[in-house]
Amino acid sequence: MSIPLMTAADESSFWFGPKASTYAGEVDWLFDFIMWISAVFFVLIIGIGAYFAVKYRRREGQDVEPSPTHNTSLELVWSVIPTILVAVIFWYGFEIYMDIRSVPRNTYDVNVTAFQWGWEFQYPNGHVTNELRVPQNERVRLVMTSKDVIHSLWIPDFRTKADCVPGRFSYIWFQAPKEGEHWLWCTEYCGTGHSEMGALVTVMERSKFDAWLKKDSDIHGNNSPVDAGKLLYQRRGCAGCHSVDGSAMTGPTFVWAKSGAKWQEPREVTSGRNPIFDENYIQQSIWEPDAEYVKGYAPAMASYAGQLTQQDINAIIAYLKDLNGVGQ
Ligand code: CUA
Repeated sequence: MSIPLMTAADESSFWFGPKASTYAGEVDWLFDFIMWISAVFFVLIIGIGAYFAVKYRRREGQDVEPSPTHNTSLELVWSVIPTILVAVIFWYGFEIYMDIRSVPRNTYDVNVTAFQWGWEFQYPNGHVTNELRVPQNERVRLVMTSKDVIHSLWIPDFRTKADCVPGRFSYIWFQAPKEGEHWLWCTEYCGTGHSEMGALVTVMERSKFDAWLKKDSDIHGNNSPVDAGKLLYQRRGCAGCHSVDGSAMTGPTFVWAKSGAKWQEPREVTSGRNPIFDENYIQQSIWEPDAEYVKGYAPAMASYAGQLTQQDINAIIAYLKDLNGVGQ
């Protein structure tokens, strides 16, 4: 089946959000088709059943009559019609499924890494963000995996989703004809932060997309270390577990006064080593989060060794120091 490009009928329906990918219209059409068949048969069967129950109810002075055992023409009708209907549903279901699952060649690829609890999107130039931006009206392929448990990436407006599985890649593809913003969610229960595992999806005209990617990639060139650190905090997943307003999350808050951390003083950790809380401590916590934990917290973080440059780590440390008013 050829994939129809979206026409004017791409607005939200009662059941679904905007049809924002090329195959969204097909998915909605099949959903409506199945729903209306179900509705018609529900009314027909329940209606006739109720009517007969009343019409042939047991009355005073009437004996129970023997039921007919067989009616060939009636049985043919109620076997053949549903068979045709489910065959049609299967045919369209299979065709549309193949359109969605068969990834075309020559796609714009974005690597997706899911983790507890957030998303990393990596573009062909190596740039990593926590939001997904894609060029408008081009075939985009997401090459997806997970750092820890099974997550599932779902973009409701595109009508597509697939699991992100540790140790392997899975793929989805889409083509979004119009510029706009959409939401992306994790749709596989993955622990405490599951319900907040969302990200913004922005479809941009190609030249705007290229300009954004170029500017956004140069995180250190365009920002002070403090601002670069803040961007890294937001983009690289720190924000999924560590608050900067003192509120309790999976990991200790980065507001040190609230987490019991005192700059350049010993920090109580599970190993009993109680290291001095300084730049070395922060760097080690990023590289080897499993080495020791702040008392009262459980292991939850994957290592960032090899994923953040020294410049990145320096910027994150600068941001944390600035946030807590030390070292200035
Ligand atoms: Cu990740 Cu639910």
